[in-house]
Parts: sequence; C-alpha cells; structure tokens
Amino acid sequence: MIGVFDSGIGGLTVVKALLDEVPGYDILYFGDTARTPYGSKSPDTVIKYALENTEFLLNQGAELIVVACNTASSVAFESIVAKYDVPVFEVITPAVELSIKNSRNLGIGIIGTRATINSGAYERKIRAIKPAARIYSKACPLLVPLVEEGWFKKPETMMIVKKYLHSLKVRQIDTLVLGCTHYPLLKNIIQRKIGKKVFIADSSLAIAREIKNFLISHPELEQKISKKGVTHFFVSDITPQFEKTARMILKKDIQLIHVKS
Ligand code: DGL
Repeated sequence: MIGVFDSGIGGLTVVKALLDEVPGYDILYFGDTARTPYGSKSPDTVIKYALENTEFLLNQGAELIVVACNTASSVAFESIVAKYDVPVFEVITPAVELSIKNSRNLGIGIIGTRATINSGAYERKIRAIKPAARIYSKACPLLVPLVEEGWFKKPETMMIVKKYLHSLKVRQIDTLVLGCTHYPLLKNIIQRKIGKKVFIADSSLAIAREIKNFLISHPELEQKISKKGVTHFFVSDITPQFEKTARMILKKDIQLIHVKS
C-alpha cells in the first residue's frame, strides 16, 4: 500500500492526484486532524508528529511513504529517512523541478505556510539546481482557513490572495509554486491574481508524477504494492467540518476512520 500523510485533510489533494496518475494502487491516508495545523508549529513539533504519522502508516502495512504535507516535507523529511528503511517521498523536490522546467526568466515565487517559508526548503532546493534563480517567497497563513471554510469564490478571498501575491507580482516572476496542500483548491483565483502568463507549479500533481515514475523504474517494489483499488482514510480527530472538506477536495463521499493518536 502507498502510505500518505498530512497534517489534516488538505493532503487529500495529493491523494486525488495519485488516484488520477496511478489508479488502482491501494492507498492508506492519515490526516492528523487532531493536531492540525502544522504550518504554525515549530520544526521540532512537526518532526515529532511526522515520525509518529510515518510509524502509524508502516504499522498499517504501507510499503512506501508520501509526505503530502509541505510543512512536514520542509522540516521533517530527513528525520523520517534517517529513521525508517522504506522509500520516502516529499513534495518539495518534484515541485521545484517542475518550476525550474517551466521558468524562462528564473523568477520563481513560492507561497506556503509560515513554517514552510521560514524553513527555506524550497529556496535551498531551487538554488542547488539554479544558483542564479531570483526567488521570492511569501507565507500566506490565511489561505488554509479560507479553503477549509469553502470560501473559494468570495470577494474577501480574492482580496486576500491579491494582497499576498502583490509582492511577487511586482518582481515579475514567471512561475509560482503552490507550496501547500490547500492551495490547488484556490488555483483559479491565484492564476487570475498573479497573471495568466505565470506558470503555476502544483506540488500535488508534481509528486503524483514522481511516484508514477518511481513505480515504473522499481518493478520489484511495484509488484509488492497491493492493487485492489481501495483507499482507507484515517484521521486522528473527526468533525462534520473535516468530512465536508474531504468531500470538497475529493468531490465524492468518503468514510473517515477515526484513530486515537
Ligand atoms: N498541510 C499543510 C501544508 O501543506 C497545510 C496545513 C497546515 O498548516 O497544517 O503545509
């Protein structure tokens, strides 16, 4: 099974991309809804949670781990790799590669939670490949709650997105990385406000393509992963709002299974 974890429900954007890109594989999702959000927490706390989430998924039978959460990918990836002997994937690298591939002027904007932006993970990875890149980052802490409220088309959301993106827009970026699980759901507004010529690098699509390529190039592991086409959605807390957000993201009814953390 492919194990996917996130700080909450937003990581279902990655599950949706996986279901489109590598259909048929069994997926185990864990959303740490009891302890969400991670984006405002310290690296030490996020590392602790990320290790516990990984352990949970491995105990349930996951054969590879996808860290769907950008915040956990930014600060906890190395700790997970150091502790567990299974393939582990984070969402930063594929999004960075996608953004570099599509940028002509190497003016790249990154938006994410405070913890992701403060970690500098995206900048470091872009600079390692393109030292001359002009990178502009912006933490957008209000966007996660707006998505969770379902405020996709409200004038207030448009205004807030416009305000956040202003400092990137004036720098003439030609590529913008959506460095947070929730932002793909605001892609239309973001595209409109940053300008239609700017390429949007969606980290959920980028990781799904990376997993597809990995499975093709690792047939031994690929054969071991069960393919009954089932997905189990575990969460550490359950509320009607989480269920609503899950339905909104996956565009279908799913059953969330509550596990005690
Ligand atoms: N999943 C988080 C991320 O992608 C966003 C929500 C949170 O702050 O926990 O960074």
